[in-house]
Amino acid sequence: MNWLVTGGAGYIGAHVVRALTEGGENVVVYDDLSTGDAGRVPEGVPLVIGTVLDADLLERTLRDHDIAGVVHIAAKKQVGESVERPLHYYRENVTGLQTLLEAMTATGADRLVFSSSAAVYGMPDVDLVTEDTPCLPMSPYGETKLIGEWLIAAAARAHGLKAAALRYFNVAGAATPELSDSGAYNLIPMVFERLEAGEAPRVFGDDYATPDGTCVRDYIHVQDIATAHLAAARHLAGAPEGTSLVLNIGRGEGSSVREMVDRILKATGNETVVPEVADRRPGDPARVVASADRIRAELGWSARHGLDEMIDSAWQGWRHGHN
Ligand code: WQD
Repeated sequence: MNWLVTGGAGYIGAHVVRALTEGGENVVVYDDLSTGDAGRVPEGVPLVIGTVLDADLLERTLRDHDIAGVVHIAAKKQVGESVERPLHYYRENVTGLQTLLEAMTATGADRLVFSSSAAVYGMPDVDLVTEDTPCLPMSPYGETKLIGEWLIAAAARAHGLKAAALRYFNVAGAATPELSDSGAYNLIPMVFERLEAGEAPRVFGDDYATPDGTCVRDYIHVQDIATAHLAAARHLAGAPEGTSLVLNIGRGEGSSVREMVDRILKATGNETVVPEVADRRPGDPARVVASADRIRAELGWSARHGLDEMIDSAWQGWRHGHN
């Protein structure tokens, strides 16, 4: 079957493209290369350079490549930037998805796997976040992902689309150094950046109501994220019209910032460095950990990789990109 992967030249997209091709699916990548890199697209996989706001190019691509399903990963994903540029985020993430759904209904492509985010939950006040935990996003970024889920559910009901929205928790690691995340917007690469600059890594707040006072998150290896997309794509093949799933992708295990920083210091040979405790970062929830029960029940999927694999592979990628 032919799948279009939007954002397939990005960090997560490139891992999804590999999981799909290794799973025997035919893949075409669609990416505007704004943050993606053509070098991440494997040989033999066609790359169409374009934005998801280009309705004509999208429709032509779906027809030319006889696409039956789309994995829609192309999006803007920086929470802080979304607060500064909400209109840009709404256009790229919401109008982009709407344009894609219109092209899909016009061409008959009827399967969609969508990158959603734990950001839809905002500040959940529960031990384990289930898909039924109320969604109260705290940023325009999180809002665009929740609105995206609504758009998809409505299109599934009205037009017989089959869809799965995957709510990623904290993604980390890489399959190979070349595929690693190039930005430093999350905890693990931010610690690498400080270490490289000869500075102590920062812990944003140690007075939260958590066991060690630092924030707790559910870190998941990007290769596990990728195999969840393959499992969702396969599931949709046999699903009835109008199917619209929402699934957390996490490990169901919480790790504190303190624990993560200690592991990173050890993995990079910086055991003697003492992290610096800084102020809380505004908007950070104390604890966000997934219940991964629904995805296990629906797709038979669960994560295989642990924290050390995430940290070691991210470190190899960081060194590869900063030589
Ligand atoms: C993790 C923890 C920080 C850097 C964000 C988005 C989410 C998703 C993933 C996109 C927090 C702490 C960090 C540092 C620290 N994005 N921290 N020192 O905020 O959980 O999630 O990225 O889809 O929607 O909100 O991830 O990696 O930024 O932070 O103490 O130098 O590490 O305060 O508690 P976050 P993160």
